[in-house]
Amino acid sequence: MNIPEPLLPLFDEGLVDEVLRPLMSGKEASVYLVRAHGQRCVAKVYKDAQHRSFHQRAAYSEGRQVRNTRQRRAMQKGTGYGKALLEAEWQNAEVAALYRLREAGVRVPEPYHHADNVLLMELVKDDAGEPAPRLYDIRFSEKDALAVHEDLIRQVACMLSAGLVHGDLSEYNILMGREGPVIIDFPQAADAAQNQNSERLFLRDVKNLADFLGRAAPRLRDTRYGPEIWDLYARAELRPDSPLTGRFQRRELPPVDTRGVLEEIRASEAEATARPMSAYQLKKQRRLEEARAAREAEEAAAAARPAQKRGHQPAPAPEPKAPAPAKKPKRRRRRRGGGGAGGPAKPAPRP
Ligand SMILES: Nc1ncnc2c1ncn2[C@@H]1O[C@H](COP(=O)(O)OP(=O)(O)O)[C@@H](O)[C@H]1O
Ligand SMILES: [Mg+2]
Repeated sequence: MNIPEPLLPLFDEGLVDEVLRPLMSGKEASVYLVRAHGQRCVAKVYKDAQHRSFHQRAAYSEGRQVRNTRQRRAMQKGTGYGKALLEAEWQNAEVAALYRLREAGVRVPEPYHHADNVLLMELVKDDAGEPAPRLYDIRFSEKDALAVHEDLIRQVACMLSAGLVHGDLSEYNILMGREGPVIIDFPQAADAAQNQNSERLFLRDVKNLADFLGRAAPRLRDTRYGPEIWDLYARAELRPDSPLTGRFQRRELPPVDTRGVLEEIRASEAEATARPMSAYQLKKQRRLEEARAAREAEEAAAAARPAQKRGHQPAPAPEPKAPAPAKKPKRRRRRRGGGGAGGPAKPAPRP
């Protein structure tokens, strides 16, 4: 077949020898079956960034690290540059997730190469060596549905113990490979610890599995693997091989020892006040107090000023913290040639 334009650079670099046929064109990507180095593999071509909704991605991208403020601003504004950055981040997240999950022992396709909006990866094959069908394409017996569900729950737990949530797990993003179900399509994968939506996304992912496979095995609909696994994760107790039951009762957190905490606070307070201040600390404290007094005086003067100008009653001055000691009124000297005591009082010079 004709070489689709986005795949031309891979030809030029000798990474792809032949395009065999299109496999699938989804909402986010066009996927081709290609031959590379004599081996059949998959080229996922990400759709033109201009035709995507970037708003929908906010929940997934939440918490992802962006390098600098200029880039962050461009991404928020949705400028051309910002969209290009978001797109790169989106694609990189998929590749990074694939590497991280293979490392963690989750069954995902092996990535071979990623550049110019194309991800070259392992072809997931069925028993006959053909591109594997999606879960959606298969009619399961109850027994098979239960076995596939158990396998996927283990993989999802393994994924979360590696710190990742798929975020779009469904019968469309799981292929039925020769060795068992293979999870694909990771650009939206969320970092469980960084993304504030990760718990919600995780529970939805696990519920999707029970809903779909529950059509063939209705008892899956009553399982509670999502909350069970998340609870273990939140307690830092989740391991790839943690025993799971599908039943879940929220365990109470150990009661807080309020008295112990209060005693602790009192003890450290006592310690702090008992320690004499150093000369430096005393000086610093005095300076702070002086600065605060000066600031308060200035604020009081500023509050009184505009009101006087407009001829209104001056605003009541803020109450002093402690009553000021009564001062003896100074005797004014009569100025020579001046307006004298009867003249209007001159405003005090500003400090
Ligand atoms: N590694 C692969 N092996 C076999 N088929 C694949 C592979 N990757 C993707 N596909 C096929 O392409 C389809 C779309 O890929 P996917 O990564 O889910 O992109 P999209 O974001 O468009 O949903 C999948 O449903 C599957 O049928
Ligand atoms: Mg998909």
